[in-house]
Amino acid sequence: MPQPHLRTVVVLAAGEGKRMKSALPKVLHPLLGRTLLGHVLTAAAPLAADRTVVVVGHGAEQVRAHLSEIAPDATPVLQAQQLGTGHAVRIALEAVPEASGTVVVINGDVPLLRAETVAALVAAHEGEGAAATVLAAEVPDPTGLGRIVRDAAGRLEQIVEERDATPAQRALREINAGIYAFDVARLRDALGKLSTDNDQGEEYLTDVFGLLGSAGEPVAVHVAADHTETLGCNDRVELAGLRKLLRDRVNAAWMRTGVSILDPDTTWIDVTATVERDAVIDQNTQLRGSTVVGAEAVVGPDVTLIDTVVGAAATVLRSHAVGAEVGPGASVGPYAYLRPAARLAEKAKVGTFVEVKNSEVGAGAKVPHLSYVGDATIGAKANIGAATIFVNYDGVDKHRTTVGEAAFVGCDTSLIAPVEVGAGAYVAAGSAITQDVPPGALAVTRAPQRNIQGWVARRRAGTASAAAAERAQRAAEGASGAAAAASEGEPIHEGTETVGGPSRTGDTATE
Ligand code: UD1
Ligand code: MG
Repeated sequence: MPQPHLRTVVVLAAGEGKRMKSALPKVLHPLLGRTLLGHVLTAAAPLAADRTVVVVGHGAEQVRAHLSEIAPDATPVLQAQQLGTGHAVRIALEAVPEASGTVVVINGDVPLLRAETVAALVAAHEGEGAAATVLAAEVPDPTGLGRIVRDAAGRLEQIVEERDATPAQRALREINAGIYAFDVARLRDALGKLSTDNDQGEEYLTDVFGLLGSAGEPVAVHVAADHTETLGCNDRVELAGLRKLLRDRVNAAWMRTGVSILDPDTTWIDVTATVERDAVIDQNTQLRGSTVVGAEAVVGPDVTLIDTVVGAAATVLRSHAVGAEVGPGASVGPYAYLRPAARLAEKAKVGTFVEVKNSEVGAGAKVPHLSYVGDATIGAKANIGAATIFVNYDGVDKHRTTVGEAAFVGCDTSLIAPVEVGAGAYVAAGSAITQDVPPGALAVTRAPQRNIQGWVARRRAGTASAAAAERAQRAAEGASGAAAAASEGEPIHEGTETVGGPSRTGDTATE
């Protein structure tokens, strides 16, 4: 004998959402971190229902697959033909014959609904012992919605669809939000009596209110304090409108917890992301999925973080990150791309035009410019010069590179994996490293430099280069013999900010 249910939630999600003009069923469209259906189920979750039934129809397989991911305990029930909201609820209740107590019915396309509002509706309904209670709202534009029709004493008389309404009823601005609480026994009874005598020839769930009311059963209206919660969405223009409303709601909530959002109009934070106190979110920033931004971190402008964790006091500027971890005090960007499993330890730096994938960058280590770091482990305080490439792919397999603590890799180096650069080792700029470098060693793989004197005058005569070289030569001849002698054979330094490295051989690295 199954236990009787005290609360059942029914979500109506069988409609196609024709006006979305989409291959995706309407309820699966995304809205700041969840699908429309995901938002509705989240709002209903605190009711702790014994059973949750989701009526599926259009795109049933897609909706079922999504449900098994986000709400595996929910029961999908197929409504093969969409014969109306009343028909949908009737089918849903057939799947839970043992249900007793309260049934909460929610249209699948009202994603801004708050959990507190559903809870208040149910509390009012159960408190009053009503047979049926509808969530209503006063809206500025009621076009297309069902109207709440009250009698002279203000009691609910019926809910009338716009297409079936008289001109006087159409002028009403109090609408049916599509969210209801019912006593299940009386609901079943009334659903059995629904007619299809309306403009659409459908079984309207809303007709239950008129039926119960005229049979003397207590029917009630619960008015939502914030009408924006009740907004549905029928096309992508309306969906974009809901997205802005939700963005503002989310941003306001974070600002009230102590987060600075410098430009709330261009900051988009998924409902699933988290931001800690005193973090600063600068403009044009998106925090998506399971992203967490730590206390006092500065993120933005122009940053997208997806499923990424940013530690306390880190900075991320004009960058894109997916599935990455940025340690406390670390610095990223401008123009960095962190891919899945990029892990930056405390105070690490990943700078401009640097891509990092499946790699650890150790504490205080730096990859400041123009590099690709793939499948690598970089030790603490190592310095990776500009244009270093971790060559991880041989066309078939990926291989790892390890760079030891405080190692120094000169600019324009290829580290051809699998390979290891030992702790404290140096790699000369312009090297292609294919063999392990022992700790403390200097590895150089360049061909020695050859200067062919007078080549430009002979082979490029008449060019601007030849003229410039001739002028320089004359000036040098005019100068003191000692200075002219000293300038011969001087190595050519390629970098601008040169530091460290054996400068006798012209090795440079940037910091
Ligand atoms: C419905 C209400 C209307 C209310 C509005 C609020 C009815 C008759 N009208 O109108 O009073 O103001 O919602 O948004 O209920 N669905 C099914 N199976 C069906 C028909 C619909 O699952 O056979 C689902 C849809 O997918 C949708 C929800 O029920 O999620 C509402 O259906 P929809 O066609 O959007 O009803 P509205 O015309 O908006
Ligand atoms: Mg609708």
